[in-house]
Amino acid sequence: MSKKLSGKTALITGASAGIGWASALALAEEGANLVLTGRRDERLQELRKLAEEAGAGGVATVAGDAQQEQIAKSCVDTAIAQYGALDILINNVGIGIYKDLIETSLQDYDDMVDSNVKSTFLFTRHAVPHMIDQKAGTILMISSMAGLYGFAGEAVYCATKFAQVGFAQALDRELRPIGIKVGVICPGGVKTEFALGTGRTTEGVAASGMLEPGDVAQAVLLACTQSASSRIIEIQMRTMNESLA
Ligand SMILES: NC(=O)c1ccc[n+]([C@@H]2O[C@H](COP(=O)([O-])OP(=O)(O)OC[C@H]3O[C@@H](n4cnc5c(N)ncnc54)[C@H](OP(=O)(O)O)[C@@H]3O)[C@@H](O)[C@H]2O)c1
Repeated sequence: MSKKLSGKTALITGASAGIGWASALALAEEGANLVLTGRRDERLQELRKLAEEAGAGGVATVAGDAQQEQIAKSCVDTAIAQYGALDILINNVGIGIYKDLIETSLQDYDDMVDSNVKSTFLFTRHAVPHMIDQKAGTILMISSMAGLYGFAGEAVYCATKFAQVGFAQALDRELRPIGIKVGVICPGGVKTEFALGTGRTTEGVAASGMLEPGDVAQAVLLACTQSASSRIIEIQMRTMNESLA
Protein backbone atom coordinates (compact mmCIF):
# COMPACT_ATOMS: atom_id res chain seq x y z
CA MET A 1 0.00 0.00 0.00
CA SER A 2 1.47 3.36 -0.95
CA LYS A 3 2.02 5.74 1.93
CA LYS A 4 0.90 9.37 1.88
CA LEU A 5 4.40 10.88 2.01
CA SER A 6 6.45 8.32 0.08
CA GLY A 7 9.09 10.18 -1.95
CA LYS A 8 8.57 13.42 -0.01
CA THR A 9 11.31 14.97 2.13
CA ALA A 10 10.60 16.79 5.40
CA LEU A 11 12.99 18.88 7.49
CA ILE A 12 11.97 19.10 11.17
CA THR A 13 13.66 21.48 13.60
CA GLY A 14 13.69 20.73 17.33
CA ALA A 15 13.28 17.05 16.48
CA SER A 16 15.20 15.72 19.49
CA ALA A 17 12.20 16.03 21.86
CA GLY A 18 8.51 16.68 22.28
CA ILE A 19 6.39 17.79 19.35
CA GLY A 20 9.27 17.60 16.86
CA TRP A 21 10.05 14.02 17.89
CA ALA A 22 6.41 12.94 17.62
CA SER A 23 6.01 14.72 14.27
CA ALA A 24 9.09 12.94 12.91
CA LEU A 25 7.56 9.57 13.78
CA ALA A 26 4.16 10.52 12.33
CA LEU A 27 5.75 11.54 9.01
CA ALA A 28 8.01 8.47 9.08
CA GLU A 29 4.95 6.22 9.31
CA GLU A 30 3.77 7.79 6.05
CA GLY A 31 7.09 7.00 4.34
CA ALA A 32 8.69 10.47 4.26
CA ASN A 33 12.43 11.03 4.01
CA LEU A 34 13.46 13.01 7.07
CA VAL A 35 16.15 15.56 7.90
CA LEU A 36 16.13 15.90 11.68
CA THR A 37 17.89 18.63 13.62
CA GLY A 38 18.41 19.65 17.25
CA ARG A 39 21.42 20.14 19.51
CA ARG A 40 21.42 16.72 21.25
CA ASP A 41 22.95 14.38 18.72
CA GLU A 42 22.42 11.24 20.84
CA ARG A 43 18.67 11.95 20.86
CA LEU A 44 18.71 12.45 17.09
CA GLN A 45 20.47 9.09 16.62
CA GLU A 46 17.87 7.37 18.82
CA LEU A 47 15.09 9.00 16.82
CA ARG A 48 16.74 8.08 13.52
CA LYS A 49 16.53 4.40 14.49
CA LEU A 50 12.89 4.67 15.56
CA ALA A 51 11.95 6.59 12.41
CA GLU A 52 13.61 4.00 10.18
CA GLU A 53 11.70 1.25 12.02
CA ALA A 54 8.48 3.26 11.62
CA GLY A 55 8.86 3.34 7.83
CA ALA A 56 10.78 6.48 6.89
CA GLY A 57 12.20 6.42 3.37
CA GLY A 58 15.52 7.69 4.69
CA VAL A 59 16.70 9.62 7.73
CA ALA A 60 19.51 12.19 7.92
CA THR A 61 20.50 14.13 11.02
CA VAL A 62 22.25 17.46 11.51
CA ALA A 63 23.18 18.30 15.10
CA GLY A 64 23.50 21.98 15.95
CA ASP A 65 22.05 25.23 17.17
CA ALA A 66 19.03 26.42 15.18
CA GLN A 67 20.00 30.03 15.88
CA GLN A 68 23.00 29.56 13.57
CA GLU A 69 22.56 30.29 9.87
CA GLN A 70 25.14 27.64 8.99
CA ILE A 71 23.00 24.93 10.64
CA ALA A 72 19.88 26.02 8.73
CA LYS A 73 21.80 26.02 5.46
CA SER A 74 23.41 22.67 6.24
CA CYS A 75 19.99 21.07 6.94
CA VAL A 76 18.54 22.34 3.66
CA ASP A 77 21.69 21.32 1.74
CA THR A 78 21.46 17.84 3.29
CA ALA A 79 17.86 17.43 2.10
CA ILE A 80 18.77 18.44 -1.44
CA ALA A 81 22.00 16.41 -1.56
CA GLN A 82 20.53 13.21 -0.09
CA TYR A 83 16.96 13.27 -1.38
CA GLY A 84 16.98 15.73 -4.29
CA ALA A 85 14.25 17.99 -2.93
CA LEU A 86 12.81 19.64 0.15
CA ASP A 87 9.03 19.31 0.22
CA ILE A 88 8.14 20.06 3.86
CA LEU A 89 9.68 22.34 6.47
CA ILE A 90 8.41 22.13 10.06
CA ASN A 91 9.66 25.16 12.02
CA ASN A 92 9.15 23.57 15.41
CA VAL A 93 12.17 24.61 17.49
CA GLY A 94 11.25 26.86 20.36
CA ILE A 95 11.79 27.68 24.02
CA GLY A 96 9.61 29.29 26.69
CA ILE A 97 10.98 31.28 29.61
CA TYR A 98 7.85 32.18 31.53
CA LYS A 99 8.38 35.22 33.73
CA ASP A 100 6.63 38.45 34.55
CA LEU A 101 8.06 41.33 32.54
CA ILE A 102 9.97 42.92 35.40
CA GLU A 103 11.80 39.61 35.97
CA THR A 104 12.63 39.14 32.28
CA SER A 105 16.23 39.99 31.39
CA LEU A 106 17.61 41.06 28.03
CA GLN A 107 19.30 37.64 27.88
CA ASP A 108 15.90 35.91 28.33
CA TYR A 109 14.51 38.12 25.55
CA ASP A 110 17.42 37.36 23.20
CA ASP A 111 17.22 33.62 23.93
CA MET A 112 13.50 33.46 23.13
CA VAL A 113 13.61 35.73 20.08
CA ASP A 114 16.62 33.96 18.58
CA SER A 115 15.34 30.45 19.30
CA ASN A 116 11.76 31.07 18.19
CA VAL A 117 11.84 33.84 15.58
CA LYS A 118 15.36 33.98 14.17
CA SER A 119 15.46 30.21 13.66
CA THR A 120 12.09 30.33 11.88
CA PHE A 121 13.45 33.03 9.56
CA LEU A 122 16.73 31.20 8.90
CA PHE A 123 15.30 27.79 8.05
CA THR A 124 12.53 29.30 5.94
CA ARG A 125 14.95 31.66 4.17
CA HIS A 126 17.14 28.74 3.09
CA ALA A 127 14.28 26.38 2.23
CA VAL A 128 12.14 28.68 0.12
CA PRO A 129 14.48 29.12 -2.88
CA HIS A 130 14.32 25.35 -3.46
CA MET A 131 10.54 25.31 -3.04
CA ILE A 132 10.26 28.16 -5.55
CA ASP A 133 12.30 26.09 -8.03
CA GLN A 134 10.01 23.11 -7.33
CA LYS A 135 6.91 25.35 -7.50
CA ALA A 136 5.66 23.37 -4.50
CA GLY A 137 6.24 22.91 -0.79
CA THR A 138 4.65 23.04 2.64
CA ILE A 139 5.99 25.19 5.47
CA LEU A 140 4.50 24.96 8.96
CA MET A 141 5.30 27.00 12.04
CA ILE A 142 4.58 25.39 15.38
CA SER A 143 3.34 28.56 17.03
CA SER A 144 0.97 28.37 19.99
CA MET A 145 -2.28 29.62 21.43
CA ALA A 146 0.19 32.14 22.87
CA GLY A 147 0.59 33.31 19.26
CA LEU A 148 -3.09 34.24 19.13
CA TYR A 149 -3.86 35.43 22.67
CA GLY A 150 -1.75 37.21 25.26
CA PHE A 151 -1.14 35.34 28.55
CA ALA A 152 0.06 36.92 31.80
CA GLY A 153 3.64 36.04 32.68
CA GLU A 154 4.49 35.17 29.05
CA ALA A 155 4.79 38.58 27.35
CA VAL A 156 8.02 37.95 25.43
CA TYR A 157 7.14 34.34 24.65
CA CYS A 158 3.77 35.52 23.31
CA ALA A 159 5.53 38.18 21.21
CA THR A 160 7.70 35.49 19.56
CA LYS A 161 4.72 33.25 18.87
CA PHE A 162 2.66 36.15 17.44
CA ALA A 163 5.70 36.88 15.25
CA GLN A 164 5.56 33.37 13.79
CA VAL A 165 1.87 33.81 12.98
CA GLY A 166 2.49 37.13 11.21
CA PHE A 167 5.45 35.68 9.34
CA ALA A 168 3.32 32.76 8.16
CA GLN A 169 0.36 34.92 7.13
CA ALA A 170 2.63 37.21 5.09
CA LEU A 171 4.43 34.29 3.45
CA ASP A 172 1.14 32.59 2.64
CA ARG A 173 0.24 35.62 0.52
CA GLU A 174 3.74 35.87 -0.96
CA LEU A 175 4.27 32.21 -1.77
CA ARG A 176 0.83 30.70 -2.44
CA PRO A 177 0.77 32.04 -6.02
CA ILE A 178 3.97 30.04 -6.62
CA GLY A 179 2.44 26.85 -5.22
CA ILE A 180 3.92 26.91 -1.72
CA LYS A 181 1.63 26.33 1.28
CA VAL A 182 2.44 28.15 4.54
CA GLY A 183 0.50 27.55 7.74
CA VAL A 184 0.63 27.61 11.52
CA ILE A 185 -0.30 25.05 14.15
CA CYS A 186 -1.32 26.70 17.42
CA PRO A 187 -1.53 24.22 20.31
CA GLY A 188 -2.36 25.01 23.90
CA GLY A 189 -0.17 23.38 26.57
CA VAL A 190 1.54 20.13 25.54
CA LYS A 191 3.15 17.52 27.84
CA THR A 192 6.82 17.94 26.87
CA GLU A 193 10.14 19.10 28.34
CA PHE A 194 9.20 22.59 27.20
CA ALA A 195 9.51 25.30 29.88
CA LEU A 196 10.48 22.81 32.60
CA GLY A 197 12.56 24.87 34.99
CA THR A 198 11.57 28.10 33.24
CA GLY A 199 7.97 28.32 34.37
CA ARG A 200 6.72 24.72 34.48
CA THR A 201 7.52 21.82 36.78
CA THR A 202 7.61 18.11 35.96
CA GLU A 203 4.91 17.47 38.56
CA GLY A 204 2.72 20.25 37.18
CA VAL A 205 2.96 18.94 33.65
CA ALA A 206 2.33 15.34 34.76
CA ALA A 207 -0.76 16.41 36.68
CA SER A 208 -2.08 18.61 33.90
CA GLY A 209 -4.62 17.64 31.30
CA MET A 210 -2.43 19.06 28.54
CA LEU A 211 -2.31 17.81 24.98
CA GLU A 212 0.03 14.93 24.09
CA PRO A 213 2.84 15.59 21.59
CA GLY A 214 1.24 12.94 19.37
CA ASP A 215 -1.95 15.03 19.17
CA VAL A 216 0.03 17.89 17.65
CA ALA A 217 1.92 15.49 15.38
CA GLN A 218 -1.41 14.36 13.88
CA ALA A 219 -2.25 18.01 13.07
CA VAL A 220 1.17 18.39 11.44
CA LEU A 221 0.53 15.27 9.36
CA LEU A 222 -2.90 16.55 8.32
CA ALA A 223 -1.42 19.85 7.14
CA CYS A 224 1.31 18.01 5.21
CA THR A 225 -1.06 15.67 3.39
CA GLN A 226 -3.62 18.01 1.87
CA SER A 227 -4.55 17.59 -1.78
CA ALA A 228 -2.75 19.81 -4.30
CA SER A 229 -5.71 22.18 -4.34
CA SER A 230 -6.04 22.61 -0.56
CA ARG A 231 -3.91 24.35 2.07
CA ILE A 232 -4.24 24.56 5.84
CA ILE A 233 -3.57 28.10 7.04
CA GLU A 234 -4.09 27.68 10.78
CA ILE A 235 -4.99 24.95 13.23
CA GLN A 236 -5.91 25.82 16.82
CA MET A 237 -5.74 22.99 19.34
CA ARG A 238 -6.78 22.85 22.97
CA THR A 239 -7.08 20.06 25.47
CA MET A 240 -10.52 18.71 26.34
CA ASN A 241 -9.59 19.31 29.99
CA GLU A 242 -9.25 23.10 29.94
CA SER A 243 -11.17 24.97 32.58
CA LEU A 244 -13.30 27.67 31.03
CA ALA A 245 -13.09 30.99 32.82
N1 LIG B 1 4.82 22.30 25.10
C1 LIG B 1 3.88 23.25 25.02
O1 LIG B 1 3.10 23.48 25.95
C2 LIG B 1 3.73 24.01 23.74
C3 LIG B 1 2.49 24.60 23.47
C4 LIG B 1 2.32 25.33 22.30
C5 LIG B 1 3.38 25.46 21.42
N2 LIG B 1 4.58 24.89 21.70
C6 LIG B 1 5.67 25.09 20.75
O2 LIG B 1 6.02 23.84 20.22
C7 LIG B 1 7.38 23.85 19.82
C8 LIG B 1 8.06 22.60 20.33
O3 LIG B 1 7.95 22.60 21.74
P1 LIG B 1 7.97 21.27 22.61
O4 LIG B 1 6.89 21.39 23.60
O5 LIG B 1 8.06 20.06 21.77
O6 LIG B 1 9.35 21.54 23.37
P2 LIG B 1 10.53 20.57 23.85
O7 LIG B 1 10.02 19.24 24.20
O8 LIG B 1 11.27 21.38 24.87
O9 LIG B 1 11.42 20.45 22.54
C9 LIG B 1 12.06 21.56 22.00
C10 LIG B 1 12.98 21.12 20.89
O10 LIG B 1 13.68 22.26 20.39
C11 LIG B 1 15.08 22.00 20.41
N3 LIG B 1 15.79 23.25 20.63
C12 LIG B 1 15.56 24.19 21.56
N4 LIG B 1 16.43 25.21 21.41
C13 LIG B 1 17.20 24.89 20.34
C14 LIG B 1 18.26 25.54 19.67
N5 LIG B 1 18.74 26.74 20.07
N6 LIG B 1 18.82 24.93 18.60
C15 LIG B 1 18.38 23.73 18.19
N7 LIG B 1 17.37 23.07 18.78
C16 LIG B 1 16.81 23.64 19.86
C17 LIG B 1 15.27 20.99 21.52
O11 LIG B 1 16.37 20.17 21.24
P3 LIG B 1 17.84 20.28 21.86
O12 LIG B 1 17.70 20.67 23.29
O13 LIG B 1 18.39 18.93 21.62
O14 LIG B 1 18.52 21.32 21.02
C18 LIG B 1 14.02 20.13 21.36
O15 LIG B 1 14.20 19.18 20.35
C19 LIG B 1 7.97 25.15 20.36
O16 LIG B 1 8.10 26.07 19.30
C20 LIG B 1 6.94 25.64 21.34
O17 LIG B 1 6.91 27.04 21.42
C21 LIG B 1 4.77 24.16 22.84
